Amino acid sequence: MTAFTARIAEIRTEASGVKSFVLQRDSGADFPEWQPGAHIDVVLAPGLSRQYSLCGDPADRQMLNFAVLREPASRGGSERLHDAVAPGDTLTIEAIRNNFPLVAAEETLLIAGGIGITPLLTMAEALDRQGKRWRMLYGGRTGGSMAYLERLARHGENVAVRPEDAHGLLDLAGFIGAYRPGKVVYCCGPEPLIKAVEAWCASWPEDALQIERFRPKEQAPGIIDSAFEVELKRKGIVVAVPADQTIADALEAVGVHIPRSCNEGTCGTCVTKLLDGEPDHRDSFLRPKQRAEGKRIMVCCSRALSPRLVLDV
Ligand code: FES
Repeated sequence: MTAFTARIAEIRTEASGVKSFVLQRDSGADFPEWQPGAHIDVVLAPGLSRQYSLCGDPADRQMLNFAVLREPASRGGSERLHDAVAPGDTLTIEAIRNNFPLVAAEETLLIAGGIGITPLLTMAEALDRQGKRWRMLYGGRTGGSMAYLERLARHGENVAVRPEDAHGLLDLAGFIGAYRPGKVVYCCGPEPLIKAVEAWCASWPEDALQIERFRPKEQAPGIIDSAFEVELKRKGIVVAVPADQTIADALEAVGVHIPRSCNEGTCGTCVTKLLDGEPDHRDSFLRPKQRAEGKRIMVCCSRALSPRLVLDV
């Protein structure tokens, strides 16, 4: 998909620290099709793009809607969208992607923490329209910090809203229960919530748990990066990757461009076929099964455990 621009038609406050943005096209042309779970890559400055889940109605091709939490330690994206843009401004959208699609299930459990509600909100609405069996557990620090409560209220008892100041930590065990075939859990939210859900579902089949992270996984402390080589099989060249450079940057320096967006291992854009060598996966995109297969690597952040990696480039 090629990048496109869109005008900010409206900015709303959805909760404390959460603003939503409605995008429209001056040309009146439809936006590309998307499905629940999709996100947009918004270009905020040269070299700075951020991913935001779409949370409007996929059937309405005349607008795109996404919400942004003001991050206390903003990496540049949320601060800019909260403070430096206004209705009438134009944003560049690099792509609409869906790394978090709804899969067929007999029962779908949606677990949202804070701004992680955005992809799950559109999933809940889609499942409801389809008459599917689903429930949602939605946590946040306080009720006032939780967006889209009114939109969720129409789903009655299907949605359990549990602000931490009134209910404490989410009762994941009670909500998720035991695995049974046909049950699929989706989770999006802060890392401690994702880790707790992963721990509860650790023995489940991999496809029964669907996770989306928008922040890079924290790396284990004390890791010292070392230099290695990448062989580009199709180009027939070997490129040295110094300890202080990523694979993608080292390739760029010799004129080999691998498409990138987030540059931190979350969006999936830079996935590259790995033919040989032992990767040191640093991303939060590949699923455990994909890592174990050893056939792909995210070159914006991952490194090598062997002296050389061979890429299908
Ligand atoms: S550029 Fe986003 S995962 Fe590599």
